Amino acid sequence: MLDSKFARVAAMAAVVLLAACGGDADDAPAAADAPAEATATPAPEAVVVYSSRGEQLISPIFEAFTQSTGITVEFVTDDPQPLIARLRAEGANTPASVLLTVDAGNLWFAAEQGVLASTASEALETAIPEYLRDPDGRWFGLSLRARTIVYDSRELSADDLVSYEDLADPKWKGRLCLRTSKKVYNQSLVALMIARHGEERTEEIVRGWVDNLAMDPTSNDTRLLEAIADGRCDVGVVNTYYLGRLQRDNAELPVGLYFPAAEVGGVHVNVSGAGIVANAANPEGAQQLLEWLAGTGGQALFAGLNYEFPILAGTENDPIVEAWGPYSPSDQPLVDAGRLQADAVRLMDRAGYR
Ligand SMILES: [Fe+2]
Repeated sequence: MLDSKFARVAAMAAVVLLAACGGDADDAPAAADAPAEATATPAPEAVVVYSSRGEQLISPIFEAFTQSTGITVEFVTDDPQPLIARLRAEGANTPASVLLTVDAGNLWFAAEQGVLASTASEALETAIPEYLRDPDGRWFGLSLRARTIVYDSRELSADDLVSYEDLADPKWKGRLCLRTSKKVYNQSLVALMIARHGEERTEEIVRGWVDNLAMDPTSNDTRLLEAIADGRCDVGVVNTYYLGRLQRDNAELPVGLYFPAAEVGGVHVNVSGAGIVANAANPEGAQQLLEWLAGTGGQALFAGLNYEFPILAGTENDPIVEAWGPYSPSDQPLVDAGRLQADAVRLMDRAGYR
């Protein structure tokens, strides 16, 4: 009796804890994204993946991979930093073979921490444009994430918008919303602006953004989109898949999407991506998984489940994504997002961007 009561209470406590962790629900759309533990002794041929993408986004993909190759996949999900720390702590004893995470800033950091191995793969190098992968083969972009401009479609049209830089113009005073600078997405955006414009010009732009804010920076991109829909701000910058998720539930959302043209630098893109772990338990299986994810078998699923863009040319988009139309990605090497990340954080701090 006592035991079963305890189990029930413990289960309830676990549910509360999960709900509390759901906060940002960033790359794990549902709150119930519990870290799923890998078994201590995986089947000999299994590939163990440490993933900061949520279970809902990876389970269907791994199932399709297993169907196609017979190789099973086990996974652990958590935020990027704890996964990287865990790989460091486990060292040669890690059960993991693949680290799957988002943002080139995180992938770059993992490589700097020495937890990823260099991989030479003709299939990956052919499928993935050079600017979307590590020059040393330690990580590979597997889907494109466009961080672009959104606007209140009741007040504005695409003709009113120009570029990220233009959002610093005083005409946007009291009208701009931004997500907090604490998130790696905006750190990568500013890092690539430093690569393009240099520190001085970038700081001017970021100061202009701060001067134009309609309200304190939001905790995440979904809050920002809601603020535009509520009329609290006119323009903002978000990753497009957050808009895709809201449009799935409300096709009439009064939020327009604007892609800066190639002449003003194009659209800031980042990636979800993966690398093979240093001391991988199953490096051959890991490479097969990465090549499958970058190939025709994996691309539509990997990008489509989260309304991202495939990296492999010719892959069909999700209809919601297709409706946004084409865009010109800025082809700046994403390795710069990592290399200049610390500079970007300091710059945003100096500019008063919280
Ligand atoms: Fe995200």
